[in-house]
Amino acid sequence: MKAAVITETRPGETRVALVPKEVETLTELGIHVAVASGAGRASGVEDEAYREAGAEVAPDADAALDGAGLLLHVNPLTADEVRALAAGTVVVSFLDPLGDTAGIRRLRDASLTGISMEMVPRITRAQSMDALSSQATVAGYKAVLLAATRLPKFLPMFTTAAGTIRPAKALILGAGVAGLQAIATARRLGAVVEAFDVRPEVREQVESLGATFLEAEEDVTAEGEGGYAAELSEEQHRKELELIAEHIRTTDLVVTTARIPGRPSPELITDAMLQSMEPGSVVVDLATEGGGNCEGSVPDDEVVRHGVTILGPQNLPATLPVHASRMYSRNIATLVKEFIDADTGALALDFDNDVVGPATVTHHGAVRNERVAALLDG
Ligand code: NAI
Repeated sequence: MKAAVITETRPGETRVALVPKEVETLTELGIHVAVASGAGRASGVEDEAYREAGAEVAPDADAALDGAGLLLHVNPLTADEVRALAAGTVVVSFLDPLGDTAGIRRLRDASLTGISMEMVPRITRAQSMDALSSQATVAGYKAVLLAATRLPKFLPMFTTAAGTIRPAKALILGAGVAGLQAIATARRLGAVVEAFDVRPEVREQVESLGATFLEAEEDVTAEGEGGYAAELSEEQHRKELELIAEHIRTTDLVVTTARIPGRPSPELITDAMLQSMEPGSVVVDLATEGGGNCEGSVPDDEVVRHGVTILGPQNLPATLPVHASRMYSRNIATLVKEFIDADTGALALDFDNDVVGPATVTHHGAVRNERVAALLDG
């Protein structure tokens, strides 16, 4: 089995799907890894490091893909990338199966087996393969750093001869992986942190990080399947907005991460709330891919409303490519091990496998995942 790693073509992308450490892991499994020259450069990995780990360095993507049965990738494939693959090739990548229907159609029509990193179930056994989590960790951390550098204030408390400075207040909306990392980072920088999520079970994690979990007077909970949230009713949403409005007035720094897979992101910060905040405050909306949590946020851009700076960065993991790629590489190699015969290095796809089954969205010209199939039909 030959596995290919190529340079990502998404604008601004700096990550690579596999780093030398996991080249070794896959080579030990009997897989021949071919890396397109330069694929790791933006992540700080030179060709020589791949060679030393046992990979072939191919002059370009076409050469790396020639004869490959497996493509390890980060971003959903473009039409050109799909055209370069032979029918039957297994693609392991973020595929955005609930958003990019055209992309999934392309994979299906080209008879590619598409294994989606987004569809790796959030079960204990699959934590080491959970790339949504590893990349969200990077995003949550970086969101707070971005906000901190834009804020015209300190985050920590200072007691100095020039007076005492009160700590800044941070509010984190959505306490999934990105949100929890944002809380931890804001706490490390000395901010006083409040957080809210519609899944009550995260309260303990929020509190263990030293943040206050906001208390809604009425029930504002909506638990969905697989550890994800569901949509709130209109009435509950209104209650949530009231709760946020009450706290945001005195907040300096907000990070929003709320999402419901396959649904638009809930709007949690309204124009009126922005108006109530002190000028100079900063909001980082991590959910702009799903439409955004903050009114007026613009994907990959910065706007100022009522004196509040709103950032909408879409690919923060690409701003820390060394660690983002290392974590992704570990995730993807662990997943590959699930469908490769350890004795022969040959493909051994088993859809009864509790990770491979749910994560495989296209195979043999068909869409395997019911939810994704319904989106394509709709
Ligand atoms: P996650 O699914 O683990 O967390 C999202 C959280 O939002 C969940 O805990 C959920 O319960 C909560 N939530 C849903 N509706 C809510 C509501 N109405 N009010 C409060 N909380 C609500 O997702 P993860 O992995 O932490 O990612 C968070 C967000 O960050 C996603 O939108 C994801 O697409 C985005 N992301 C953005 C990146 C970037 O660079 N901009 C990179 C990685 C992730």
